[in-house]
Amino acid sequence: MHQILYLCFAMLFLSNVVANTPNVQDLPPPYNEVSLMPYYPHGWYSNHEPIAQLIDKFQVRTIVEVGSWMGLSTIDMAQMIPGDGKVYAVDTWKGSPNEDHDPQILATLYRQFLSNMIHAQVTDKVVPIRLESTEAAKIFDAVPDLVYIDATHTYEACYADLQAWYPHVRDHGVLCGDDWAWGDRGVERAVLQFASENNLKVYGNGWFWWLEE
Ligand SMILES: C[S@@+](CC[C@H](N)C(=O)[O-])C[C@H]1O[C@@H](n2cnc3c(N)ncnc32)[C@H](O)[C@@H]1O
Repeated sequence: MHQILYLCFAMLFLSNVVANTPNVQDLPPPYNEVSLMPYYPHGWYSNHEPIAQLIDKFQVRTIVEVGSWMGLSTIDMAQMIPGDGKVYAVDTWKGSPNEDHDPQILATLYRQFLSNMIHAQVTDKVVPIRLESTEAAKIFDAVPDLVYIDATHTYEACYADLQAWYPHVRDHGVLCGDDWAWGDRGVERAVLQFASENNLKVYGNGWFWWLEE
């Protein structure tokens, strides 16, 4: 009797595993070519609350994220926008040039990002753009309500990201980002300078910052 019960439990467990294993071939490109890795959304993201408030305030459906890494922040934002919304995830998936990264992690970083999107079931919302930020901005043709900048945190790189992506943001949209006080405060200096040049209001909440008209 016990053996039959164990067999039933094992079959139930296996059928659940099979039902929850995503069928990668049926997904849109580039997800359909992924050799799936286990779910491992490592990241530095702690901006859920302020981003949720901006999504609500600005009625956000379309987001550009500059700097996605393994997609911890990407998944959170994708889960907060409406079903027909999009998160364009812009990243080289080569790591930030001024930071030390484990070469083993970098070797599979893009594959890990795609795998994480599949496991989190956000492939219909997340569009990866595997390019350097300013190159991606040159060819980008959607109109985001919100741009989230979390790529290279030097003054020069952050200022270049702001310059590249601000023209894409919809009228009365919002630019925001992480790491206000990182390192030599290059992000803070770039954001303050850009805001003053473009007559934007600067807001901050710890490491998180945003710019509004
Ligand atoms: C701090 S991580 C992003 C973390 C992620 N948003 C999170 O919260 O988990 C920075 C990412 O930006 C990418 N990156 C840095 N500079 C870039 C650039 N100029 N263009 C595109 N991607 C860049 C790196 O490859 C890395 O994945």
